[in-house]
Amino acid sequence: MKIRSSQFVRASYKPSDEPQDAGPDIVFLGRSNVGKSSLINRLLDTKGLARTSSQPGRTQSINYYRINHAFFFVDLPGYGYAKVPESVRRAWGPMVEGFLEQRRERIAVALLVVDARRDPTELDRVMKEWLEVREIPYLVAATKTDTLSGNGRARAERALLKAYGSTRLAERPLLTSAKTGRGVREIWKCVDSELENAGVRTRGI
Ligand code: GTP
Ligand code: MG
Repeated sequence: MKIRSSQFVRASYKPSDEPQDAGPDIVFLGRSNVGKSSLINRLLDTKGLARTSSQPGRTQSINYYRINHAFFFVDLPGYGYAKVPESVRRAWGPMVEGFLEQRRERIAVALLVVDARRDPTELDRVMKEWLEVREIPYLVAATKTDTLSGNGRARAERALLKAYGSTRLAERPLLTSAKTGRGVREIWKCVDSELENAGVRTRGI
């Protein structure tokens, strides 16, 4: 996919805020601070489009980015961060579940972003379950692999496979890094093919 344009469209807190322009969604979800916004920037080859932060809980709204005037990248707020205000924590479940229900038909691919160095949390399992129950095609992107060395990487790879297994789109969790760009080509390959299925041209443009 050649990125010709990428723009922030809006931050949405409820279904009526969602952009209505035609085109499928590529959705990013995962634990707070895991690197979702960084991965979005890396996939789009931009630096500051999606705001990143070393403090967890940076993204608290559903953020829409319009790519090539044809489809959306959707950055969902991260989960599992204890220090966010109680009101935000309570709003998170209905907001994300509402999104998955409301826009189910538009979701071409979801990327479940997980930390390659950590065991899955209960909420990672819940997310995987949500995606499976709704039959949403998804990939597991295990990020921050740049912090792993040879042995650690092999160990992480085994643990990730055990925890997440295969999905309809990939035999195993993809090893990625927003820092080095690892895995970006594989992600695009898969996303391109799902976008083509959804009627978005990704080749020869
Ligand atoms: P929330 O918006 O709070 O849910 O976080 P997020 O998942 O969007 O994470 P974000 O992209 O803001 O990154 C969180 C922190 O992890 C930042 O300090 C990033 O620099 C760092 N980070 C993200 N991706 C990578 C990576 O691939 N490698 C390394 N080493 N650090 C990363
Ligand atoms: Mg973020």
